[in-house]
Order: sequence, then C-alpha cells, then structure tokens
Amino acid sequence: MQAKSLVCEEEDQVSSVKTIRKRSKPTSVGVPSHVIKFKEVRLYLVERKMGSSRRSFLTQLARSKGFVVDDILSDEITHVVSEDSETSSLWTWLKGCGLGNLSKMQVLHISWFTDSMREGRPVTVENRHLIQDALPALQIESALAPVAMISQYACQRRTSTDNKNKIFTDAFEILAENYEFNDLKSSCIAFRRAASVLKSLPWTVECIGATQGLPCLREHTKAVMEDILQCGRSFEVEKILSSERYQTLKLFTSVFGVGLKTAEKWYLRGLRSFSEILAEPSIELNRMQKSGFLHYGDISRAVTKAEAQALGNIIDEAAHLITSDAVIAMTGGFRRGKEVGHDVDFIVTTPEAGKEEYMLRQIIDSFKKQGILLYCEYQASTFHMSKLPCQSFEAMDYFAKCFLILRLEASRVDGGLSCAEGDNRGWRAIRVDLVSPPMDRYAFALLGWTGSTQFDRDLRRFARSERRMILDNHTLYDKTKKEFLTARSEEDIFAHLGLEYIEPLQRNA
Ligand code: CTP
Ligand code: MN
Ligand code: MN
Repeated sequence: MQAKSLVCEEEDQVSSVKTIRKRSKPTSVGVPSHVIKFKEVRLYLVERKMGSSRRSFLTQLARSKGFVVDDILSDEITHVVSEDSETSSLWTWLKGCGLGNLSKMQVLHISWFTDSMREGRPVTVENRHLIQDALPALQIESALAPVAMISQYACQRRTSTDNKNKIFTDAFEILAENYEFNDLKSSCIAFRRAASVLKSLPWTVECIGATQGLPCLREHTKAVMEDILQCGRSFEVEKILSSERYQTLKLFTSVFGVGLKTAEKWYLRGLRSFSEILAEPSIELNRMQKSGFLHYGDISRAVTKAEAQALGNIIDEAAHLITSDAVIAMTGGFRRGKEVGHDVDFIVTTPEAGKEEYMLRQIIDSFKKQGILLYCEYQASTFHMSKLPCQSFEAMDYFAKCFLILRLEASRVDGGLSCAEGDNRGWRAIRVDLVSPPMDRYAFALLGWTGSTQFDRDLRRFARSERRMILDNHTLYDKTKKEFLTARSEEDIFAHLGLEYIEPLQRNA
C-alpha cells in the first residue's frame, strides 16, 4: 500500500491533465495515477447497465478526486456502485462472484457516487443510497452495515415524527431531565443525544446487538435499554419517577413562568403542591407566573393542528391589516409536522427593513382590541450586527419577540376545540410565541425557530467542530475566512455548511 501511494504521488506531480486525456486506455489494476485521499474507501463500479466507456470515465473522475477505484471486484472492495435498477439480478450476480466479504460491502446506487464526486469526498451512506438485497439471509447482514455510517450529528440524520423506539427514548428523556434537575449537564446531554439517535432509526431496536456501531450510545444508555428489552421497563427510571424531588420539580416547572431555579427554591422550602404555593403568603408570584396558574388547565393541554391553524389565520389577518406585504410563517413543532404542540410559534416580518418591530407591536395591539390578549410579555429588539458573531450558544436571540397567551374561540377552529371534559366555555387559552427578525435575517431565524432544539444544537456543534463556523439564529460566520455568510433560504445555510438539505419534516431529532 505504502509503495503504491508513493508511485501515484510522483505521477500526479507530472500532470493530472494528462491522465484525464488518456482515459480511454485501460489502467492497470491497483496502480492508481493520482494522490489517494481516502485510503479507507475502495470502490468498484459495476459495468452492467453502466457500459464500459461511462465506467472508465467515472473511474478516472473518481481517481482524479483522490478515490481508489479498482477494476476488479475483490474482497478488498468497501463500496460497490451500480447503475443497475434490477436489484435482484445485481445481487444474484454479486453472490456468484465468490466473494468472502460481500456482507461487509456497501452496495450502493450511483447517487452515492455522484453525491461523493460533487462533495469531493465519500459522503455518509444514507438509506436512500443503499441497494438492499431482497433475499432474507443477506438482508439481515446488509441491514446491519449502514448502522456504522449513522452520523453522530442530528443534522446529518433524517428524523420524522414517527419514532420507532419511543419505549427507549421516553426513558432516556426522563433520565436526561433528572440529570438536568440535578445540574449534571454532560450526563443530560449524553442521554438527549442517545434518544435523538434512536429517534432517527427507521426500525425498532429488538436486541442490544442491533445497536452495535450506533453513535452516542454509551455503557449506561445500553444498560437502560437492556433492562427495557428484558423486563419491559427500566428500574432506574421507575426510581426517578417515584422520587418526590423529581415529581415536585416536574410539577412546578410545568407552570408557565416557573423555571428550574424557582421550582427548586420552592421545593427546598418544603412546598409540594400548587395549593401550598398559592396559600403561602411570603411567595410573590410575578405577572407571568400568575397567568401561568390562572390558565394552567388550558395551557398544559396539548394544542392541536387545527387550533394552530386557526391562530395562524388570526395572526395573518391582523398582520395584513397593518401592512399588505406582511410575511408570516408557522415554525416550531408544527412546521416539523407534529400533530400537537405545547404552544404555537410564528415568525412575523416584512420586507421593509426596520418596520418589523413596529409591526409586531401593532399585531399585539390588534389582539388587545379584539379582546383575545390574555397575557403578553414583550421583548424589544436588541439586535445589531456589531454584536455578532454571538459566542454563547444557548443564548436567546436578539430579535423583537413576545410570549403570549391568546384566547381562541371554538367558532374559529375547524372541527372545534380540544376541550377538557365537561368544559363548555366555547373558548380556550393557548400559548403563542411570535418573533420578528429583519428580513435579511429571516432564513437564520426560520432555521433556529423550527428546531428541534436537539437538531439546532447539533447544527451549531457541527458548524463549530467540523467547519470552523459559528451558527446562531442571526447569522453564519466563517472563522477561517473571517466573514459573515449570507443566506436567503434554509437551503443556502445547509449549502454553506456542506450539509445535505434536511427538510423540516425530517428535523424531529
Ligand atoms: N427558540 C429559540 N429562541 C427562543 C425560544 C425558542 O430559538 N427564545 C427555538 C427553540 O430552540 C426551538 C423552537 O424555537 O427550536 C421552538 O421552540 P418550542 O416552542 O419550545 O418547541 P417546539 O419544538 O415547537 O415544541 P412544542 O411542539 O412542544 O412547542
Ligand atoms: Mn412550539
Ligand atoms: Mn415556543
């Protein structure tokens, strides 16, 4: 191997143009004429359906980009690439080649190859790239193969709302929350990442062996999974659920306006229930907490898609009465295709620079006039480009925003409200978040406010660790080039990061 790469490096220095011109001549096996950049990858292009001239062209192209391409199929090959759409005949042919290592090879559609050529590196193998063997015996082995290729970053995985591993991820989320309650940040993150990996799997984990090669699963997470696989439940989780501290902090933080610090303070004072808090004369609730308790029943109940849509219409009407060029987008969980949410999130802005904040205040005024504003916490914009890039990743953004509780009439909702039993008020209270970025910041704000939180975290971590870039809700900054990168759409941001675009419906990490 060592000697071969030396040969090819010398040749490459002579001329890389020359090697492209002589592409029609057959190259000798295993003696590539270019610098090898990806030693761990060894390609074989299947000639069937591709044809010999296209095959030799693609071979040269890949070699010129630093890939090793062998002319002969052997057990050294890691990636088999084919243009054959007849899966069964391809696999029959492969199995007849007398390979000892076929189950470890990635058998891939040409799309993986073209993606890799475009990126100039072997891209992560995704399910859509795989040519799966339809026959059961080999299917098991080839289903295990892609596992090793799942990225540790949520922004390189597709995660729909259809979670096939809820039994595990629910347990992980309780553990993560408990670590958060006990201020153990790194353990909390570890369990959130593990949950996120399992949510992205298109299959259910049925034995611990199936998790081999999955990223972000440590000893502890696997031990919890083994308990669940064997007994249907985790004893560690049950212990947490029955602990007084967890139950109380969970209850108190479920109130709008009550954070972990306040909840802990109340817990340490011996308070255990809402009635004890409300009866305690020394406790002075702030305005947000008062509304939180007042509307607790309504806002702790899930918001449906129909209710979210009705609120969208109300905001749309109010905004368009103020200015005809208003831009409204529903973000958060509903944009990711969730059926229910804890609130409804919107971006409201206008192409007229500087007018967006004024517009937001006008919308709030309009709600007041309509008599539907039950609570409003308004935060003026503190946004200025000179403050960027923002180094603190968990920091809230600087845009003008408001956290609202709105009154929604049943008559506005398609199919009616989701009401508690025996409730015939004909309206309910719903939490609504509005944010108003200037239009040139729209794509960044949309990406940040669409979430999920875990998806956003990993986008930022990926940008920082893999690209030397800083991403937040306002901007993307390239530390190498020392410049801000512009984006008109979410697609532009993914492209700047060298990431395949992930549509909102697949960001439920
Ligand atoms: N967000 C943000 N800045 C804030 C508040 C929220 O960037 N000040 C982002 C969050 O990081 C998240 C998205 O906005 O990505 C939506 O937040 P939230 O409503 O809390 O979560 P959802 O994903 O919408 O979940 P749910 O359906 O429960 O509302
Ligand atoms: Mn939301
Ligand atoms: Mn929200």
